[in-house]
Amino acid sequence: IQPPLVVVGSANADIYVEVERVPKEGETLAASSGQTLPGGKGANQAACAARLNYPTYFIGQVGTDNFANLLRDSLQASGVKLDFLGTVAGPSGHAIVMLQPGGKNSIIIVGGANVSWPRLDGGISRLSERAQNLIRRAGAVLLQREVPDALNIEVAKIARMSNVPVVLDAGGIDAAMPVELLKNLTIFSPNETELARLTGMPTETTEEVLAAAATVQSMGVQQVLVKRGEKGSILVDKDCVIMQPAIMAPCVVDTTGAGDTFTAAYTLALIEKHSPTDALRFAAAAASICVRTKGAIPSMPNRKAVLQLLDEQSPGKEY
Ligand code: RIB
Repeated sequence: IQPPLVVVGSANADIYVEVERVPKEGETLAASSGQTLPGGKGANQAACAARLNYPTYFIGQVGTDNFANLLRDSLQASGVKLDFLGTVAGPSGHAIVMLQPGGKNSIIIVGGANVSWPRLDGGISRLSERAQNLIRRAGAVLLQREVPDALNIEVAKIARMSNVPVVLDAGGIDAAMPVELLKNLTIFSPNETELARLTGMPTETTEEVLAAAATVQSMGVQQVLVKRGEKGSILVDKDCVIMQPAIMAPCVVDTTGAGDTFTAAYTLALIEKHSPTDALRFAAAAASICVRTKGAIPSMPNRKAVLQLLDEQSPGKEY
């Protein structure tokens, strides 16, 4: 039996507007189209892992609005186990996604239910005993930064005490990283901007990324996995560095959710006992498929599509 992947995090209704560029201050622009699609970093990562056929639980919250149905339905359709998806009064998390030519995006999130977790009162957990037990028996726990840091810290501590690997995708709010979270991580996965923000170091060149990643390691994190978009990814482990080129897509329609796809695919490949090199290739292929169509959750691939792309890239090479 495979130990489940447990994703704790956000679910957002992504309100897409397709624009030529983001508006300037005081300017009104017309979008060529608008659409609401399921997303949110936590939900994206859970949906991705489940579509890749890995048993996946999502611990999160939706509100009492219509967005909640969209989010619940798309997670369910992706095969995510929703026993721990709560409902709280008020709006669900949502995001304005300004999609620009070339698949680039600018995103603003509204926390809603994602940030409506109770305070940790008198040491009583925010999570039920059942949810805590699920975390203790997980193959890995995957976190991001669109829910309160205090919740992430609590989850990371429960997992670490049971030797469950904790992966933090650094995407989400632009706030200082709590040391207590960092020191309970196994893998920290930022993009270049997030890595620069955390370390205060430049991260444009490969050498700069390596130096910044070493600084994060010195803060107590075992692996740093840097996502660099079309420049590929760099994994810095205790005693090795692995560089994985990106697998280029013939046409990039929408990069929303590609980073989430990469982190989730990498994490589940590690739980499946693939080598870090193979896990990186698998993740690169999954992310490459994600950018080819619009939407975060709607564009996540299944395992067959990922294996087919890997085979096209290196015919006959086993994954
Ligand atoms: O990482 C992409 C996600 O960021 C979007 O789905 C949006 O909801 C924001 O959380």
